[in-house]
Amino acid sequence: MSDSQHTQTIRSEFERAAKTFVERTRGRFDDLGIVEFSRLGPDETVLEVGAGTGNFLQLFAGAAAELIAVDLTKGMLLQARKQFPDMRLVMADGGNLPLPAGSIDLVTTAQALHHIWKPLPIFKEMRRVMRKDGRLLIVDQVATERYEEVVAMNQLELIRDPSHAVSRPPSALRMLVRAVGLEILDERVVEGEQRMSRWMWPGEFPTERIERVAAYIDEHGHETGMDFWRDGDDYVFTRRRMMLLAKRA
Ligand SMILES: C[S@@+](CC[C@H](N)C(=O)[O-])C[C@H]1O[C@@H](n2cnc3c(N)ncnc32)[C@H](O)[C@@H]1O
Repeated sequence: MSDSQHTQTIRSEFERAAKTFVERTRGRFDDLGIVEFSRLGPDETVLEVGAGTGNFLQLFAGAAAELIAVDLTKGMLLQARKQFPDMRLVMADGGNLPLPAGSIDLVTTAQALHHIWKPLPIFKEMRRVMRKDGRLLIVDQVATERYEEVVAMNQLELIRDPSHAVSRPPSALRMLVRAVGLEILDERVVEGEQRMSRWMWPGEFPTERIERVAAYIDEHGHETGMDFWRDGDDYVFTRRRMMLLAKRA
């Protein structure tokens, strides 16, 4: 699939899901202590690449001077506008940010990197727009460090969502940060329990896709490193997310 085809897939998946996405993902960052972890100072500007409906960026409301949401998908930004009218919305690709160099205190990206096959241009752009003494905060789902589990987890994720690219192991996220001349200030891998019925809301995902995911879990779930177990009609699994804070080296 070419880069532009993948961008099209991202847009069509998120246009379709925008309305239910707001509800399905509400509160999913609330217990991570994100604002404290980001070391947010007074009067700072916070930018999010792949901000979607704004659920993550809104965590900084009240504490930051300005919130700027960048996203590829219009329908997601329209939902953000409805909920959070004070956010500045920018429809753009994270690999080509229409913002001046050195203008942002805290650049963030949450749950978006796993949709991106070639993340280096985005990392370079995020570094470019960071102030000299600014910080980059990454939050994304991660795989384990076992190659076979990375492959199986990503096969499963691709059945669930064709706009998925790759859930990386923590070591790959560290490498990307360092590759653009940043150094890690802090990091955390947080594990939590997730349910398939929450992960794939029937109103948001086509039934046929939910069935294919269930079939994959039955056959290969134990190979994904996601610790699947069956609970009646549902499946329970471990969701791993990495939080990583970096500054210029
Ligand atoms: C899973 S959603 C996450 C939304 C939000 N960060 C949250 O966690 O609630 C991923 C978002 O990333 C956006 N996205 C994917 N690739 C992007 C890119 N290259 N540039 C900007 N946005 C992108 C999608 O349009 C989508 O809204």
